[in-house]
Amino acid sequence: MDGGIYATVDAYIDDLFGPPDPALAAALERAEAAGLPPINVSSGHGRLLQVLVLACGATNILEIGTLGGYSTIWMAQALPPDGRLLTLEYEPKHADVARRSIADAGLADRVEVRVGRALDTLADIEREGAGPFDMVFIDADKPPYAEYFDAVLRMSAPGTLIVADNVVRDGRVAQGTTDDAAVTGAQRFNAALAARVGVTGAIVQQVGAKGHDGMALAVVR
Ligand code: SAH
Ligand code: DHB
Ligand code: MG
Repeated sequence: MDGGIYATVDAYIDDLFGPPDPALAAALERAEAAGLPPINVSSGHGRLLQVLVLACGATNILEIGTLGGYSTIWMAQALPPDGRLLTLEYEPKHADVARRSIADAGLADRVEVRVGRALDTLADIEREGAGPFDMVFIDADKPPYAEYFDAVLRMSAPGTLIVADNVVRDGRVAQGTTDDAAVTGAQRFNAALAARVGVTGAIVQQVGAKGHDGMALAVVR
């Protein structure tokens, strides 16, 4: 997709809200300068994450997949001063870039970036007694999304909001069998979400400057 009308509407929405927050703009610039892949959430979706933090009154947030800290900063900016956000990242270089942007955003006191394979660091933090989290944003590698969901549920409580990015993948989740592990990962996650007793979920497809994808939103009952 070349963007077209969807990119035009994304730009219209951005314009409505005025110039970007300097810390968010600086985080994108630093990530680009460091050569990180441009796979952060869009500004519109960052804004949505921030609204969700406020809507659920989150004070304890878990993110899986930090990249340069762009979505992290959107969410952490909505935390109260005593709130906490823990974000998990595999690539030390990404974590380093993110830590610098988080510090420049004045959020270093609230945010911890932890380096490792998320399946390992999730097990570590569970053992440490982390959680329950008020909100979780799943946005790391796609093949183990269903396993991330299981781990997250073990650190959830009634009311926990679970958000997962990239669960539609250009519509390919709806086109049957594929050998694209990112698509099958999203399909497995979506099926696990729908089947999970005690969790009410929705899957919202989205279009924008970054194309066609979707987010799952779910609340633990
Ligand atoms: N949430 C970010 C984007 C994350 S991109 C934003 O919107 O700004 C996905 C990130 O997950 C990348 O930085 C990638 O290095 C990381 N990742 C990939 N596999 C991982 C794994 N097994 N454990 C933890 N992080 C992983
Ligand atoms: C990819 C990952 C993401 O989290 C995203 O939002 C878009 C693309 C990717 O790995 O290609
Ligand atoms: Mg994503």
